[in-house]
Amino acid sequence: MYRVGLIGCGGISAVHAHVLRELENTELVASADVIPDRAERYGCAAWTDWRAMLDAENLDAVHLCTPHYLHPLMAKEAAKRGIAVFTEKPPAIDAAGWEQVKAAARRVPVGICFQNRYHPHMLSCHRFLREGTYGALRGIRAFVTWNRTAEYYAAADWKGKWDMEGGGALINQAIHTLDLIIGFLGCPDQAEAAMRNHHLGKAIEVEDTAEIYLRKGDIPALLYASNAYSQDAPVILELHFDQAVIRLEGDVMALIRDGKKKEITCVTDPVIGRSYWGAGHKACIADFYHSMETGTPYQNDPASCEATMRTLLQLYSQSGFRP
Ligand SMILES: NC(=O)c1ccc[n+]([C@@H]2O[C@H](COP(=O)([O-])OP(=O)(O)OC[C@H]3O[C@@H](n4cnc5c(N)ncnc54)[C@H](O)[C@@H]3O)[C@@H](O)[C@H]2O)c1
Repeated sequence: MYRVGLIGCGGISAVHAHVLRELENTELVASADVIPDRAERYGCAAWTDWRAMLDAENLDAVHLCTPHYLHPLMAKEAAKRGIAVFTEKPPAIDAAGWEQVKAAARRVPVGICFQNRYHPHMLSCHRFLREGTYGALRGIRAFVTWNRTAEYYAAADWKGKWDMEGGGALINQAIHTLDLIIGFLGCPDQAEAAMRNHHLGKAIEVEDTAEIYLRKGDIPALLYASNAYSQDAPVILELHFDQAVIRLEGDVMALIRDGKKKEITCVTDPVIGRSYWGAGHKACIADFYHSMETGTPYQNDPASCEATMRTLLQLYSQSGFRP
């Protein structure tokens, strides 16, 4: 049984706590948050000083559910103590932080929460690509159009700030879709972004909208990500193959071929928490502990995120929008 700690007991932590209690090889033994009430939320040993928790609780692993800028420091401190790290996305907000996370992974297992990679439709699409089911890939396009209000940003002191969130719609909301695109495309030869802040004005520093062009060889990938929509609409991700178009919209996969459209369903785990977080957390976390148990490489290790992180950071610096 792995003794697991959790740092950051806000919104997403409930999903991690739930999964850690459901899995047969993990036990949530301690949690830390700077807000004492939150630290006590899960009925295990509660700490307001996360370093003290790492020192005292004899942990095998720690989950990082804290603001983005803290992930590299916390990963480094855990690794120094021989504690494995499972971090929420993004693992880092700048190149130095990303290097720290990779350094931690040279000492202990490190997993990154890109849970949507585990969606059954994603696995099918990777099989289509690998086996050439519909011929070669020609292009990709995706839309992440969600709604994040001034109240959403006001509710957490780190959201909407360059130094703590590291960006807005792209690094926080659309990073999963960027990661999925790069999973199909590979590391792009060209990556350009235009970023704007349309709907909240000076209430946030970061972008609420990013328009992204990626190209690998002669394959373009377009991504439009915005937090300025009227609702959290299902993410649309479309793969254009020689002989078919596969359009994923939320959990619905449509195969469009010869002018006909066929919908393909799949079964996922129940969603824990908000629907737009998706249903992949359990599979993603279970796989992390399975790989620790078997000593096999973890699918979402830092090496598997290198192309996504490199592209993400390049898009911010290239856009000129981040100061
Ligand atoms: N994978 C997903 O689908 C998904 C969904 C939502 C959020 N997230 C990620 O989860 C992380 C947390 O997001 P959230 O929405 O839960 O944020 P949140 O603000 O609700 O929670 C963060 C918590 O961290 C605590 N915290 C801050 N500094 C701390 C410190 N020094 N020591 C201990 N605790 C500290 C805060 O008090 C807060 O309770 C982010 O990285 C976010 O991007 C991922």
